Amino acid sequence: MTEPEPLEFVGTNEVRFQNRTLLYFSGCDYFRLARDPRLAAAAKKSLAAFGLNVAASRITTGNHQIYARLEKELATFFDAESALIFPNGYLAPLAAASALAGEFSHALIDESAHAALFDAARMLACPVKKFRHRDAADLKKTLSKCGGNVRPLLLTDGVFSQDGAVAPLRDYLKILPRAVKILVDDAYGAGILGATGKGTLEFENVSRRRVIQCATLSKAFGSYGGVVLSSWALRKKIIARSRAFAGTTPLPPPLAGAALAAVKILAAEPARRKRLFQNVAFVRQQLRAAGWDIAETPGAIVRLPVLPAARERELKKRLLAAGIYPPYLRYGNMAHGTFRFIISSEHTSTHLEKLCAVVVGFKKDFPKL
Ligand SMILES: Cc1ncc(COP(=O)(O)O)c(C=O)c1O
Repeated sequence: MTEPEPLEFVGTNEVRFQNRTLLYFSGCDYFRLARDPRLAAAAKKSLAAFGLNVAASRITTGNHQIYARLEKELATFFDAESALIFPNGYLAPLAAASALAGEFSHALIDESAHAALFDAARMLACPVKKFRHRDAADLKKTLSKCGGNVRPLLLTDGVFSQDGAVAPLRDYLKILPRAVKILVDDAYGAGILGATGKGTLEFENVSRRRVIQCATLSKAFGSYGGVVLSSWALRKKIIARSRAFAGTTPLPPPLAGAALAAVKILAAEPARRKRLFQNVAFVRQQLRAAGWDIAETPGAIVRLPVLPAARERELKKRLLAAGIYPPYLRYGNMAHGTFRFIISSEHTSTHLEKLCAVVVGFKKDFPKL
């Protein structure tokens, strides 16, 4: 993979790219909290009070009181028994899985799961079996091939980054034996999905009894860090057994301070979520009216169908000409690249109309796409 060109934020919805200021429909700072002055003020306050870094593991001298405060707020926000934070979201499922090593007979993983979950599955020290993307029937078939007396852990994203589709957790729990647990990487769903933003578990209306939820604080929460939302028993196990927990310096206090501010904002301002999904619905409706085949998914992602290479180049050119950064995505285990627009609650109707005008005009010129 070639190294991407540098990009820098210059406003709430604009980036500097190749010496131009362009409208931005990418990244997962859905509520633009990373640009919110309240988070910046909270980070500055924590920096002044606590310094940049604790320079020690939490199991030695790095267990600053701000971490317990953040964990308490996160557990309350998500209505989980406990929250345990990590330096980033990638580490959260790895740490949970390493603490659970040896407890499961198989790891069953969605074939399109995020890389963090494939790495986490390896930490479980058991055979890893892939099942078809979001396919409960194939999951059942895969499980039946594992033999009798199985105790698997299912690993899946909550919201899939490619198109915003959600893992059918309710169906999975219905068909799986009671002993099976699910580890959900809810990086894309936490903070946005469900009536109060608790994420995919709330959206799918499933209890936490058999589900471990991992999330990042770098997307909806606009800060940085990762979190495992689980039972107290699992929290204790991770602290006792996880080398990723014991062997790392925790989140810098300024970022923990910013995350604390973010949790409070998201809890107090549900209108942001409403606005976000109104914006998503507007873009989808405009593009569909022009003939684009746009999936209806619960996430804040609008993905175009895969285009021939020449058309991709043409659309990139038109987006740039209209002053829009072309958010083209191809990474990890994706078979094809695609345009993926991530919508924000802070995009104005002018921004959304500008994007739609380009994509709708493109469809008019190439109706067979
Ligand atoms: C599904 C998923 N899991 C985990 C991560 C890692 O989170 P972080 O960037 O906080 O390490 C990401 C980040 O992009 C993600 O999309």
